[in-house]
Amino acid sequence: MKTKKKGILYGLGVGPGDPELITLKAARVLNVVDVVFTAASTKNSYSLALSIAKAHIPDLTPVRMLTFPMTNDKEEKESAWLAHANTIIEELTQGKKVAFITLGDSMTYSTYGYVLQHVQEIAPQFPIISVPGITSYQAAAACLNTPLVEGEDSLMVISGAQGGDRLRECAAKPEAVVFLKAYRNVDDITDAIEQTGDYEATVGISNCSHTDQKIIWDISKLRERRPDYWTLILAKRKKVHGTPDK
Ligand SMILES: C[S@@+](CC[C@H](N)C(=O)[O-])C[C@H]1O[C@@H](n2cnc3c(N)ncnc32)[C@H](O)[C@@H]1O
Repeated sequence: MKTKKKGILYGLGVGPGDPELITLKAARVLNVVDVVFTAASTKNSYSLALSIAKAHIPDLTPVRMLTFPMTNDKEEKESAWLAHANTIIEELTQGKKVAFITLGDSMTYSTYGYVLQHVQEIAPQFPIISVPGITSYQAAAACLNTPLVEGEDSLMVISGAQGGDRLRECAAKPEAVVFLKAYRNVDDITDAIEQTGDYEATVGISNCSHTDQKIIWDISKLRERRPDYWTLILAKRKKVHGTPDK
């Protein structure tokens, strides 16, 4: 008697942009799964994660785009996550190996986190293997040739979606701070960093590890130029080791 294949979900972080920064494990899994899911906004059907992972997906493997609404409406977001989790579960029920790809690390501010939670709740019988990826801020530190933290240092990763208040509220300021999702609130975030008086080096990085990467060493320039979504800000108490790109 043939044993029925059991579906497996893989959550793959595909790294920050440079196709060489995808892990060997993610690349190997992409090569063997039956279907690949990727996320896109309802406004456009482009997936940066897919463009990074593409080289590792065999031509005949179906790629399915799941659209997520760019909204603050909790109910709308919740119903999209639920619907997408159910779409993935349909594939798992057919005994398929399924990959969900996500930019950077799969567990850092990622749509995969929400999908994962729903799949675990609705269909706990399916094994799930989450594969980490290189985060945008690890890539940023590498491109600046500056360690993120050393010795007894601490690092804080903050969502900049609500501006700089999270840093202002912090009584003991960490040695290094990374603001992701910084693009809309650059003014308030840079104000908050300056107000602490603690950070000697503040750098903005857009499209890190992509061919159009930009390092903004003078943060006031970041205020003027209205950076795009793929921008982060790194602040360190001590000057970064790296040298500005000429
Ligand atoms: C939803 S979070 C995703 C984080 C991602 N999972 C990671 O591990 O880095 C999106 C934010 O990450 C940052 N980001 C992601 N990729 C980036 C890149 N290549 N360069 C600069 N910032 C990036 C930006 O701050 C962006 O607004």
